[in-house]
Amino acid sequence: MASAALETATPVMRQYLAAKRQHPEALLLFRLGDFYELFYEDAKTAAAVLDITLTSRNKEKGAPIPMCGVPWHAAETYIARLVQQGYKVALCEQMEDPKLTKTLVRREVTRVLTPGTVAFALPEADNRYLAALARSPEGNTVGWAVVDVSTGEFHATEFDGTVAASRVAEEQARWRPREILYAAPEAPLFAAAPADAAAAATLTPLEPWILEPAFAQGVLESHFGVLSLEGFGLSGRPWAQAAAGAIVHYVKETQRSTLAHIDRLGFYERQQGLVIDAVSARNLELVEPQFQGDGASTLRAVLDATCTPMGKRLLRQWMLAPSGELVEIRARHEAVAALVAEWSQREKLRETLGGIQDLERLLARVALDTALPRDLLALAASLDRVPEVKEGLRGQRPGVRGDEGAAGGGKGAGSDGAGRLGELAARLDACDALRAAVGAHLVEAPPATLAEGGYIRAGINAELDELRALAHGAKTAIAAIEARERERTTIGSLKIRFNNIFGYYIEVSKANLRLVPPDYERKQTLVNAERFTTAELKELERKILSAEERSRALELELFLGLRRQAAENAGAIRQDAAAIAEIDVLASFAHLAQERTYCRPEMTAEGILEILEGRHPVVERLMQGNAETFVPNSLALAPDAQRLLLVTGPNMGGKSTYLRQAALIVLMAHMGSFVPASSARIPLVDRIFTRIGASDNLARGRSTFMVEMTEAAVILNQATTRSLVILDEIGRGTSTYDGLALAWAMVEHLHDHTRALTLFATHYHELTALAAQLPGLRNAQVAVRESKDGIVFLRKVEAGEASRSYGIEVARLAGLPRAVIERARAVLREHEAPRPAAGAAGEMQLTLFTPQAQKIADRLAAVNPDTLTPLEALNLIAELKAALA
Ligand SMILES: Nc1ncnc2c1ncn2[C@@H]1O[C@H](COP(=O)(O)OP(=O)(O)O)[C@@H](O)[C@H]1O
Ligand SMILES: [Mg+2]
Repeated sequence: MASAALETATPVMRQYLAAKRQHPEALLLFRLGDFYELFYEDAKTAAAVLDITLTSRNKEKGAPIPMCGVPWHAAETYIARLVQQGYKVALCEQMEDPKLTKTLVRREVTRVLTPGTVAFALPEADNRYLAALARSPEGNTVGWAVVDVSTGEFHATEFDGTVAASRVAEEQARWRPREILYAAPEAPLFAAAPADAAAAATLTPLEPWILEPAFAQGVLESHFGVLSLEGFGLSGRPWAQAAAGAIVHYVKETQRSTLAHIDRLGFYERQQGLVIDAVSARNLELVEPQFQGDGASTLRAVLDATCTPMGKRLLRQWMLAPSGELVEIRARHEAVAALVAEWSQREKLRETLGGIQDLERLLARVALDTALPRDLLALAASLDRVPEVKEGLRGQRPGVRGDEGAAGGGKGAGSDGAGRLGELAARLDACDALRAAVGAHLVEAPPATLAEGGYIRAGINAELDELRALAHGAKTAIAAIEARERERTTIGSLKIRFNNIFGYYIEVSKANLRLVPPDYERKQTLVNAERFTTAELKELERKILSAEERSRALELELFLGLRRQAAENAGAIRQDAAAIAEIDVLASFAHLAQERTYCRPEMTAEGILEILEGRHPVVERLMQGNAETFVPNSLALAPDAQRLLLVTGPNMGGKSTYLRQAALIVLMAHMGSFVPASSARIPLVDRIFTRIGASDNLARGRSTFMVEMTEAAVILNQATTRSLVILDEIGRGTSTYDGLALAWAMVEHLHDHTRALTLFATHYHELTALAAQLPGLRNAQVAVRESKDGIVFLRKVEAGEASRSYGIEVARLAGLPRAVIERARAVLREHEAPRPAAGAAGEMQLTLFTPQAQKIADRLAAVNPDTLTPLEALNLIAELKAALA
């Protein structure tokens, strides 16, 4: 930057440049009066990102400095936008009151906001995670930690270095951190770009010592005030500690706060839950639409009837990382059943929840020392609802009635649900003393900032009341003086006014100056008037200003005491927030279950998947109000019997919908939700894999076949017998023969070796022949009815294989010209005729369709021996032989 400018710089600019030197990585927001100003390159960047005017300073001296600014009272939104774009922002504040200092105001950088640490102006339904990655020197062990500074959530894990790359990708998919810390010189493990740009994180290198276990241990022990990290499950996990310690260090450095709300840290193992990788999450449109759109097509949009921001975030977490424990899942189902049974109580409860604001983020503001009077009022008003929530859960009976559905319910879990709800209710603490204190101290509608005071109630502090009375009395006295002076001087227009620079003054217009008495002292001359003061006025002014000054200081002191009291309740408030989030999600599940007739799934450990009359939760919703209705379909898979279902049928028949619906129902059950079916038995699943063939996936725009095969490889390598695998039109991205051969081999492998529950949709009819060979494979087809006008989609999935592909019929429905359709039919007939009927199973099947054989067959079918000359016949033989070579 302009180092040459330094000598000529004004003192303020010199101060600016010094602060900027300490934070070269950040955009420096420099407080000047009522604005945060940016200079030089920072100004250019911010002006472009924020779409604000770029001006310049110092123009007249011939060395203009680019500059732009944002008003400090609206700074949060601007800062949030900069950070959202991946920038870091350093706030350089005035450390003294400019009114009280004659020299240059002291300024310091008080906070640095980064994509992973910004804790305000965030979308309420999303968490904002900061992650850290620490690696042992030999790379044998890798630690990973994530925190959400805006809510205080904090987790760490550790894994083997040999699987690091895939584990890191998995963790990234699960948490989607906005910023990742890592040790500086090392090539980051996560350099591989995440699958989609939306998940991109800012990478922040740190000095390696910050990611050392020895350093981290000290940081964590002192932050949590513990002697050992055993209580967090972190002892003997040095690299998980290292990652977590780096996070605490970094957040404290940037936020300059105690982080009282980050009061615990949980160690987790991967295998705790059902794993859904990033590709599957996108294919299933869990939280983001697959194609650019409004998000109405996501599972999250359809499944969110929560009433609080905490509930919204927990729903998303449960969706991206569902539970993998039978006891936990059954307890949730039981609680949902109990809430289904009590609809009026439940709807009243949801209404109460609706009045609760974002407790976690309000608490974070308290802990980060940024909470204002309005935040404390919001906190107290939300806590006011807690007793009602508790009351709403009282007497929740065991969810016996919820069991009536055909599913039969989780056996032996009779009282778990009431247990869970009761447990959650018991964890609620309305923080009575805090609420009372906030209510007693703060006025109902306080100003938006602390600057001018006026937020502490009268009658709560005697000294404050006295100071206010003093100031008020003096103001009344001034009004009296104004009346008296008008009379004495006979100047009817004489006014006593106040401004920040000159204080109180008597203003007399030019025309009346001759009437001014000799005891008036001149203060200031304007075009049309003069301003005066008197000894009496000066004395009153002094009283008023000092009383106001002192009362502002006193108000601030009282407020900070209140904020400290709130911070002391951090533990209870966090617990409230967590309990309310869970109550909210369970009540939301219950509400939807009733509204949409979802059934309670029976969770089994036996691996059997049975869905009766299942529906796709999203497609069903999107079809609401259409003439058509959603056609339910059943499904049965079992590990030792029918474990691979091959679904064939025409395009647009409903294959993809049927496949995804199975995955979504299994996922929803693991989240703890009821499911769109008339009954369901759901096995405990370790992973759900969903892969979609390239041509169904055009939006991705990458070298599709390579992507498809890479993804298929992941499944074949990682799926277990407890996985659910959904493969939709895999093998499409290449030529027919390659595609068929690959699909064929994959089906065999999945059936024989992987043995996962698998749904495989394909347009390769040839694959249906595998049923004769693979005992665990069944064919299913989407039914169509043929009429004289073409085909009608019935959307019904039936046993058996589709008789043909109907591609031409679909093309006709799509409006291809009739001549083209007729020609296509003729070509098809010609090609189908000379082949032996497909279905002769066994070894022959594949060879029949090798590319060479097909080419030769096609060539032969095209010639007419009756019209061939002997020379042509010879040439043909040579050509065919060449094709074989
Ligand atoms: N069970 C169903 N009931 C009603 N409509 C359905 C059903 N399944 C699918 N559809 C409709 O048919 C369309 C095509 O379904 P899709 O699953 O994409 O077919 P395919 O994968 O066989 O080409 C979907 O957009 C959906 O609107
Ligand atoms: Mg499809």
